Amino acid sequence: MSASAEMPYFIKPSQNMGSEEKTAAYEQALQELTAVLEGETDFILIMATINCILKTHLRYYYWVGFYCVKEGRLSVGPYQGTLGCLHIDFSKGVCGRAARERQTQLVGDVHALVQGAEHIACDPNSQSEIVVPVFDKQNNLLAVFDVDSSEKFSFDEIDRRYLEEIMQRFLAR
Ligand code: SME
Repeated sequence: MSASAEMPYFIKPSQNMGSEEKTAAYEQALQELTAVLEGETDFILIMATINCILKTHLRYYYWVGFYCVKEGRLSVGPYQGTLGCLHIDFSKGVCGRAARERQTQLVGDVHALVQGAEHIACDPNSQSEIVVPVFDKQNNLLAVFDVDSSEKFSFDEIDRRYLEEIMQRFLAR
């Protein structure tokens, strides 16, 4: 049995979505992002807006946000959810692994990983996770984008495809 904690009043438990519904939600989010972010160049503004629009449409997004590469480690950037860890070393967690390997990480059950090493539990309600690396045009790693769900196996290849496209389209420059 995994640990859990009472959710604050502004957070709801995740609800998994089927492939068709998930694809439609990402298409809607992509349309809104394209309209809202037209001509915008400020990274903080773009990151905050990506978090908000995706979390609005995808009901299994429990925690969503960015960890930015700063002084050789990952430091929390714009996010929505319960309190995130402030700093993550490249050697630790799913975020560190995505940064090290420069590849998207999909984890169906975070409790199957070694806690503190392979996975860092910022919120005990997290059950599954996707972490997508964010690159600039020169292929330098800028950040990782992290989404946690309070349900197991919320993320799949559909999430990977849309999220990699969104990071590339709105943040690579
Ligand atoms: N679970 C992540 C840490 C960040 S929180 O989920 C917000 C990890 O293992 O890297």
